[in-house]
Amino acid sequence: MNKKDVVIIGGGIIGVAIAYQLAKRGKSVTVLEKDTVGAHSSGAAGGMLGAQVEFSEPGPLVDLSLRSRAMFTELAKELCEASGIDIGLNKAGMLRVAWTEEEAEALQKRGAWQQAMGLNAEWLDRVEVKRIEPMVSDEIAGALYLQDDAQISAPDTTRAFAVAAARHGAAIRERCEALEIERTDNRITSVLTTQGRLTADYYVLAAGAWSGRLARMLNLPLDVFPIKGEAFSVFSTLQPIQKTLYSHGCYIVPKDGNRLLVGASSADCGFDNRITIDGLQQLMAKALRLLPALKSCPLERTWASLRPQTKDGLPYFGPVASFDNLLAATGHYRNGILLSPLTGEIIARMITGEDIDVSLAPFTDKRHAQPVF
Ligand code: GLY
Repeated sequence: MNKKDVVIIGGGIIGVAIAYQLAKRGKSVTVLEKDTVGAHSSGAAGGMLGAQVEFSEPGPLVDLSLRSRAMFTELAKELCEASGIDIGLNKAGMLRVAWTEEEAEALQKRGAWQQAMGLNAEWLDRVEVKRIEPMVSDEIAGALYLQDDAQISAPDTTRAFAVAAARHGAAIRERCEALEIERTDNRITSVLTTQGRLTADYYVLAAGAWSGRLARMLNLPLDVFPIKGEAFSVFSTLQPIQKTLYSHGCYIVPKDGNRLLVGASSADCGFDNRITIDGLQQLMAKALRLLPALKSCPLERTWASLRPQTKDGLPYFGPVASFDNLLAATGHYRNGILLSPLTGEIIARMITGEDIDVSLAPFTDKRHAQPVF
């Protein structure tokens, strides 16, 4: 049997980012993906690097998100060199829109704590917003301008990590499903897959919304569950939008090819990822409120995928207690694309024994998932 250093279960952006960092360090790595790389939430994501837009208060996830966002400039160059793929880094910033005075006040408070952290967060009134994005609704109260929240192409970035990992020697096995995770006492010994049995020194569970199901094979109560997001895109016939527009439960992200990506609903309906009329209708209504001229744009496509949420809203990063050689990197919910560079780096460093200069205590201390027998 060809024993690897590391087997990673899951070929979403988290799995392939870890594979890239490990392969770059000379480790032999296999990624197992039950479908194709990026086939689920990584390929469906809007690609917002919303380290500021996504968070209403400071906290450990904000700190990690800022660290990860800062990695994208170098990463874009590195991945382009290693894979030939341009990840489409767009640094035009985001506008978090308020509709009422109450909301404006809350966003100004958010701007204040972000400024106190040394971040760019500027409150703009309606006239100022319309000066930089004239197509935005006349009904808005104003917007928080977050000039450093960028965006990328999530499918291209996922592919770029995978191609770059493969060029450094990683094996990426698509249509390869983990059927059983086999153990002896506190060690994982192998993964039985639809393409045979694989063995490694370390195993990483990075299977997004499916991680909870896989963990249950080991009686691990890893509380990861799916939250559906529906989205659509249009071919824009409008005066171009430069900045990502973000409002309640709706964001409009300008993409290459004069397209606008509109996301995303949020529904707890298990593993059912079918698009519903209700979900789409509500999302379209929100998008039209934000950008009324959208109504004349031809629809390109619609899609849905499952975000990996956790009960406490925090991702899992690192060793799973009671197992000597199992790590979890999952539960990134709305922030998997944003957190992918840092997650790849952290998990690779944990496996190679390098120093990690970020505090992971809030993510690890209280949730060393213990097996339940
Ligand atoms: N990151 C945005 C979303 O999950 O919809």
